[in-house]
Amino acid sequence: MDRRAFLATAAAASLASAEAAPQLAVNGGAPVRSQPLGTANWGPLYYDDKEQTQLSDVLRSRKPFRFANSLEQSKVAIFENEYAARMQTKYALAVTSGTAALHTAMAALEVGPGDEVIIPAWTWYSCYATVIQVGALPVFAEIDESFNIDPADIEHRITPQTKVIMAVHLQGNPAGMDPILAIAHKHGLKVLEDCSQSVGASYKGRPLGSMGDIAIYSLQQSKTITAGEGGALVTNDPYLFERAVRFHDVTVRRDFPAKLHYMPGLNYRMNEFTGGVLLAQLRKLDTIIADVRRNARHVYSGIRDVPALHLRHLPDPEGELGTGIFLGFRSSAERQRYAAAMKAEGVPVAGPAGSVVLPVVPEIEQKVTVTLRWPSFASERGQSIRYGRECCPRTLDILSRFAGVMMGPKYTERDTEDAVTAIRKVYPAIVSA
Ligand SMILES: Cc1ncc(COP(=O)(O)O)c(C=O)c1O
Repeated sequence: MDRRAFLATAAAASLASAEAAPQLAVNGGAPVRSQPLGTANWGPLYYDDKEQTQLSDVLRSRKPFRFANSLEQSKVAIFENEYAARMQTKYALAVTSGTAALHTAMAALEVGPGDEVIIPAWTWYSCYATVIQVGALPVFAEIDESFNIDPADIEHRITPQTKVIMAVHLQGNPAGMDPILAIAHKHGLKVLEDCSQSVGASYKGRPLGSMGDIAIYSLQQSKTITAGEGGALVTNDPYLFERAVRFHDVTVRRDFPAKLHYMPGLNYRMNEFTGGVLLAQLRKLDTIIADVRRNARHVYSGIRDVPALHLRHLPDPEGELGTGIFLGFRSSAERQRYAAAMKAEGVPVAGPAGSVVLPVVPEIEQKVTVTLRWPSFASERGQSIRYGRECCPRTLDILSRFAGVMMGPKYTERDTEDAVTAIRKVYPAIVSA
């Protein structure tokens, strides 16, 4: 919705809320609930004897190292096979974290000194840090109201040095992959999908991670499924896969004769305990997703007719996980008023979370670019890129104006009903004030 339409519908909301306005709890009215609504991390809520059995198997086997087991017996190898099948890709590689997966993806894509990677200004530290670690330059693009990279802000940032576009699917919401893939195709660029915050979501029927050249996932505690730490990488490209396997396993490739030239690999191998827990969790992935989506949809449908409703942009509402019901406001001050009023109702909201506005992180603006004299930044091109607030004003503005009720897969009907009641009570009162 553009700003003019928003203002017009806000005026309509003003009339509607004047008719029957229950007293807000923040003004002394009765709160919607006494126990604040909130969720624990999703994956661990589903831990049961399945994870326990996997762990016991590994203890009994006395073979916690994945390559001490045959391909048929290794929990990590079985996890990889089932993960690739779930994500509809030819290959999957298990690694120790999402950050390790990003580093491995950079190595697989041969990103190095002189290369540039376009990444969203709002994302997790590792997206930026791994680009720097391989000696390349990060170039930030603005986000749009999906909180993901704005496809319309990519093309003018492409230079002859650009090698990769990183599409990060944040907080359960797929990025607009069709325009991103079209731009990449037009300019001969690779696409890396970071699905860490949206494991299991999809875009127009395709699982996230299956559309780019390579994709990564974090399986750390706050992600859809977890063993505390863990990560995965998927691709359909045998060359990229072989490079990834060799990089994550000190250059060697144990189950095939070496085909590629030497590349210096590290050790990001997953152990069998982690593999076992993740295997049990993966088999519950669709249950977890169905549960959280059901709850989110209950809230979406309960607030659909709220006047002036300004929802976060969802490029594919069917594929979204429903991590949070994010609503937009005209200003940061208005967002703050909504947050205070919702908290008083016992249905707290949070701003977009789990990521950082990278260009304005002081270490990035100052220490790395100026003090450390890291070679990529010391180059003429590196010196010419302006980081800081001026490179992403729209990102800062969008993030300051949205807030959401976070969803949990184990919410009861009463919980989601309370979310609906609180939003219906508070949102019109705030946007019509
Ligand atoms: C978008 C994104 N990418 C990468 C990572 C890194 O994952 P990990 O913490 O498993 O290293 C995270 C972690 O939160 C993330 O949110």
